[in-house]
Amino acid sequence: EKGGYDAFMLKEIAEQPRAVADTLLGRIGADGRLHLDEMHITDEQLREIDKIIIIACGTSYHAGMIAKYAIEHWAGVPCEVEFASEFRYRDPILTKSTLVIAISQSGESMDTLMAVRHAREQKARVLCICNVNGSTMPRECDGVLYTHAGPEVGVAATKTFLTQLVAVYLIALYIAQVRGTKWGDEVFAMVQLLGSMPEKVEKVLETMEPVRELARSLADEKSVLFLGRHVGFPVALEGALKLKELAYMHAEGFAAGELKHGPIALIEDGLPVIVVVPPRARDVLHDKIVSNIQEIRARGARTIVIAEEGDDSVAPYADTLIEVPAVPTLLQPLVTTIPLQVFSCELATAKGHDVDQPRNLAKSVTVE
Ligand code: BG6
Repeated sequence: EKGGYDAFMLKEIAEQPRAVADTLLGRIGADGRLHLDEMHITDEQLREIDKIIIIACGTSYHAGMIAKYAIEHWAGVPCEVEFASEFRYRDPILTKSTLVIAISQSGESMDTLMAVRHAREQKARVLCICNVNGSTMPRECDGVLYTHAGPEVGVAATKTFLTQLVAVYLIALYIAQVRGTKWGDEVFAMVQLLGSMPEKVEKVLETMEPVRELARSLADEKSVLFLGRHVGFPVALEGALKLKELAYMHAEGFAAGELKHGPIALIEDGLPVIVVVPPRARDVLHDKIVSNIQEIRARGARTIVIAEEGDDSVAPYADTLIEVPAVPTLLQPLVTTIPLQVFSCELATAKGHDVDQPRNLAKSVTVE
């Protein structure tokens, strides 16, 4: 059933172009407008929303962080993201005009489910993004946007994460479409671009051999750091989480701008640091991260840089350069996450670990 792959995780990483395409299927009309009727929310209700709160755990939480950037930019609605386990036990301010979006591939995570119930008791409208048909969360929410990744067996989320990203982009663009924000043309263009993402994802997968080699060469390291800015920050967190989960290695993700406020003290000779670089078109953001790379390199870090193809301004500071296709900043996580999945999977395999069933972890955690 692994379809010729040594592990489900490898198979599921390879299935991502398909998973992304399937999650887009039937949701973009011939006129380029989005149709998300399954969310069961009227245009009027969407126009009345004044705050969005996203709740999730683990990898799904990272999809939620990326959703915040997309929703606030395209839809112009204030958006908060919180770990479900934290949301539940404070006193969140929810009203009829708050939209809560739970993200859970399994639809069963108890932390997220308890948060959903709490939000519904406060009369908020609650939607979920979920990959498992008929699971508990979609039944308890007002509406659901299913991701169509197909069954995911590997405990560490891969294709469900990429499809969650597609789902959050669709929701953000849909809200923008309904509310008619100032980004109308951009929204239309982004919907078109989403349609071309499966090819881009495929292209990344075809160029992963050097990443596998790199991973094998780092199998004996004690620690790896990950840096990013903007949506590259949650991608860095996701890269670190994958390495912890699969390789049982110390890994941490940081917002690159925070480096100077503490983490830079960790940098020592030879420490591998993986940096996610935003597209060159985002000049301010891009230049700032290039100086972050210079700073860590001057202190001895081994810089492993994920940047868009042809980005020659960053190449001189990269000990290893991993190129991904050029896409707009907000969509970049769809291509920059893949090398990090491949990296941790290969590194864990080199250490002799079972990547499908990492120790102490379960695919869905049904206790709080
Ligand atoms: C963890 C899984 O237990 O739950 C992670 O090991 C997952 O891979 C997290 O991201 C959240 O799960 P879900 O189903 O709510 O997305």
